[in-house]
Amino acid sequence: MKRIFSGVQPSGTPTIGNYVGALKQFVDLQQDFETFYCVVNEHAITVAQDPEALKKNTRSLAALYLALGVDPNLSTIFIQSHVPAHAQAGWVVQCLTPLGELERMTQYKDKAKKQDSVLSGLLGYPALMVADIILYNTDLVPVGADQKQHMELTRNFVDRFNRRFSKDGQDILVKPEAYIPKAGGRVMSLQEPTKKMSKSDSNQKGFISLLDDPKAIEKKIKSAVTDSSGTISYDVENKPGVSNLLDIYSAFSNRTVDDLVEQYQDAGYGQFKADLAQVLIAFLEPMQEKYWALLTSSELDDVLEEGSKKANAVANETLQKIYQAIGF
Ligand code: AQP
Repeated sequence: MKRIFSGVQPSGTPTIGNYVGALKQFVDLQQDFETFYCVVNEHAITVAQDPEALKKNTRSLAALYLALGVDPNLSTIFIQSHVPAHAQAGWVVQCLTPLGELERMTQYKDKAKKQDSVLSGLLGYPALMVADIILYNTDLVPVGADQKQHMELTRNFVDRFNRRFSKDGQDILVKPEAYIPKAGGRVMSLQEPTKKMSKSDSNQKGFISLLDDPKAIEKKIKSAVTDSSGTISYDVENKPGVSNLLDIYSAFSNRTVDDLVEQYQDAGYGQFKADLAQVLIAFLEPMQEKYWALLTSSELDDVLEEGSKKANAVANETLQKIYQAIGF
């Protein structure tokens, strides 16, 4: 069975963008692949975090994985810092990665611009991501389109490492591929629809979090930026706001954008937005009920303990191969 690895940072509550770009695939792929899903708290500290909030968000994100349908009988669910091999392999990857490759990463440049003081971990973030992926001999990585460049860095690293350290034509590391959804790989901000939706956006109106209540969802969709034309059509260049809402509607209703345009083209933005809000509420409300029950149950701790045992076993095996290869 082919392997899948992916993770989300507990840097806030995930948005519907994180769901469409990544978490939805976590659930869909677990029947056909051997799946490892991680809460990547070591990535979260590449920007400043409040310790109490980080702890709470880490547990909350693991509960969300389960509430959304990641099944612990099919998938290994764990917290990154519970598996020391991530930090250990991350250091090796960082030492073997040219500085220029990390400095070229657009996510680093975007995030660095928003920080008063840039932590060196932010530059090293993609090296840690490479380590996360290679430790599980991963074939496929379900991610949003914003992670394309980091995936290319990972593939280049694997090629370089295998060329330099493999013996007898036997590759040490598996070369992974990105699995990016055809639609919704990049959900945009509701307030600045040319910018991607992010859970750490300081403007709360820019995103819908997976734990937003119905009132907040209605309000945020109602105030989503559109344009003055009043007609509903899909045109990312000239109508980025409406096109983004159509993409979101399509992802949560399993209807095509063409079908939605046909239904709403003359309906006006008010009706379209009201219906979209109801579609989101119908998906999120039952999931949130499961989430609140999980948060206060011991099931979550049991799942994470079991997950960390399984993840440590696989990751340590690969780490030993890496250590041997480089002469440790
Ligand atoms: N707007 C988005 N549309 C589609 N996919 C997205 N992802 C993130 N934003 C969108 C995908 O979600 C997964 C987890 O992301 P992450 O939390 O590890 O890091 P991120 O990409 O930095 O996500 P955020 O929400 O923007 O977090 P902050 O604000 O903390 O930086 C990834 O697969 C990502 O592609």
